[in-house]
Amino acid sequence: NIDEAWVRTVPKAEVHVHLDGCIDREELMRLAGKYGVPLRRPAEQLFDFDGLTEFLQFLDWGASLVRTADDAASVAYRFAQRQAASGIRYTDVIINPTHWEAWRGNIAGLVDALDAGWREAEQDGLPSTGLCLSLLRQQSAAEADELLDWMLERDHPRVVALSIDGDEAVAGRVSARFADTFRRAASRGIYRTVHAGESSGPEGVRDAIDLLMADRIDHGFRAIEEPALVAEIADRGIPLGICPGSNVALGFTESRAAHPVEELRQAGVRISLNTDDGTALGSILDQEYAATARAFGWQRDDLLAIARTSIESAFCDDDRRSALL
Ligand code: HPA
Ligand code: ZN
Repeated sequence: NIDEAWVRTVPKAEVHVHLDGCIDREELMRLAGKYGVPLRRPAEQLFDFDGLTEFLQFLDWGASLVRTADDAASVAYRFAQRQAASGIRYTDVIINPTHWEAWRGNIAGLVDALDAGWREAEQDGLPSTGLCLSLLRQQSAAEADELLDWMLERDHPRVVALSIDGDEAVAGRVSARFADTFRRAASRGIYRTVHAGESSGPEGVRDAIDLLMADRIDHGFRAIEEPALVAEIADRGIPLGICPGSNVALGFTESRAAHPVEELRQAGVRISLNTDDGTALGSILDQEYAATARAFGWQRDDLLAIARTSIESAFCDDDRRSALL
């Protein structure tokens, strides 16, 4: 049988989680107080959202409260503490710099500050973290190039991938705009992870693979609507970073039991389980594993296989991967 205590003992990685949505309530209140910024809602309703659009606005509000290097290091350190509490051994975490208003034009400063927090965490025995830098779907090709240029020039050891996220229903089918940048990233050996098939349908997943050369798809569950696409994802072994709790919380799936994750798994698709935005969406990874297993009648072996896929699909170096597997 499966409970959270057992899940915590299973070696696993988390590969689809946004630091922007992982600033906990206490920290948000502390920072809002420090800078005299009114809470957007009474404290107990801070994390009530009625869908992705409003949620992304909340990320702008929350991340804009992180203004100094100490603020950012604190957010990073507390994140590592919570990852440890779920028994996570390694995390690929996403930040989308457009949410972090105080650091506009200073991506180097933000990455260095977060890196300092994670280095301290690692020294304290907390799990290590790789950073994926994300574009918002609405951004321009020039902005995408600028981010990649910085990544190539700085070659920061903390930074592991180029990412794209945001609301595809608002931005439209715009992957072609980013194709040159993502192709260039691929040619320079930079990993790519792409949000698709959450607020877009299967065509978004198709574009993520064909145009953005995605190594991993964040969400991707709406591929289920196109059987040929599911077969291709399974054949090519492209992993999906599935977040059932997030999809329910933001209204993309009716319930955990109605999530296509089981059908995808049965079709041979490689899947991991993830929280997406842990504190903001109230998702905790040990509980995600246990609750999803209960919803589908999975046994320990099923979760062990999923945890293994999470480590295989992480963008950590091979030495770390071998040590975790
Ligand atoms: N979808 C798109 N963008 C995001 C999400 C999401 O679920 N979470 C944070 N940024
Ligand atoms: Zn996400």
